[in-house]
Amino acid sequence: MAADPTTGGGEAESFFRAAPPLRDQDRVAGDLADFVARHSGNGGGGRLAGVVCVTSGGTTVPLEQRCVRYIDNFSSGQRGAASTEYFLKAGYAVIFIYRRGSKQPYCRFLPEDSFLDLFELGEESDIQVPESHAAVVKTAIRNYRKAIDEGLLLKLPFTTIFEYLQLLQMVGTAMNCLGRQGMFYLAAAVSDFYVPWESMAKHKIESASGPLNMQLNQVPKMLFILRKQWAPSAFCVSFKLETDPDILLQKAEAALRKYGMNVVVANELANYKDVVVMVTSNGRTTVRRPSKEDDVEEQLIDLLVEMHSEHIMQLNQDVHKL
Ligand code: PMT
Repeated sequence: MAADPTTGGGEAESFFRAAPPLRDQDRVAGDLADFVARHSGNGGGGRLAGVVCVTSGGTTVPLEQRCVRYIDNFSSGQRGAASTEYFLKAGYAVIFIYRRGSKQPYCRFLPEDSFLDLFELGEESDIQVPESHAAVVKTAIRNYRKAIDEGLLLKLPFTTIFEYLQLLQMVGTAMNCLGRQGMFYLAAAVSDFYVPWESMAKHKIESASGPLNMQLNQVPKMLFILRKQWAPSAFCVSFKLETDPDILLQKAEAALRKYGMNVVVANELANYKDVVVMVTSNGRTTVRRPSKEDDVEEQLIDLLVEMHSEHIMQLNQDVHKL
């Protein structure tokens, strides 16, 4: 059988071939095609700054096909949700690939403990928002509705590593037609190890048979395929997370070279909400959160938007030279 160019060949191709097909695949493909068509050709001198795919939250690794147990990671989706808000503010259309149940754009400041704390019953049994939450709820609804009503936000949920990578592949290939106006901002915490679908237990693993020994395979790195095949002209920003500060920047620089990223954002688990380092072929830029009331993402997105617009202008200059 001929190799499928969208799967990159080798390990990536076997990953996609064996993965359980995405539920709603046709609907997602349709929504994506409409979204991209609506926003293509609209960048540059147009109203829209560009289209960005933001990935957010952690992928799970199921241990059983009828999944009872799975491996997860710490990511809350805070970075992806905050960044989506700042991209929308900067005039981008956003495809938000997010982990189900993770933080959502414009909902970050709502009370976390209980959704029901947001409402109370009025005298006529009507539902009201208590005065203490009124301002945040109004702002959240206003901003969210604006993004949805203007067709600037497309939300695509995932839970497992299989769903995440299939969605990334669909979005990557759909955004190819945007050329340099497309951006990928890959903040999701993607599992590095997984159990291949075909070798996974079908039913709940028995505990009666004693300790569990399990070999996990490496998840194929998709950054290279994204860069080389899915969307070669897009502006690509990936993240590098480490717990050991001594290896973080070297690893980020290695990823920049190996996967041909435009920017690798390096962050350390201990302080990732306060400081990130943007690593590019021109050097390093440290971005710090100005205060506890601010987001580090605000300045980060400002800088990335500037770099992305230079990336787009580069094309215009190249075209003029021809
Ligand atoms: O969600 P929060 O709680 O706000 O946390 C945000 C964050 C710390 C998760 C985020 O800032 C971050 O660092 N995300 C990337 C974490 C990560 O998965 O790092 P990595 O070294 O495993 O992967 C590096 C890059 O390769 C990532 O951009 C990832 O999308 C990509 N990758 C990873 C594995 C894989 N098989 N294929 C990939 O393409």
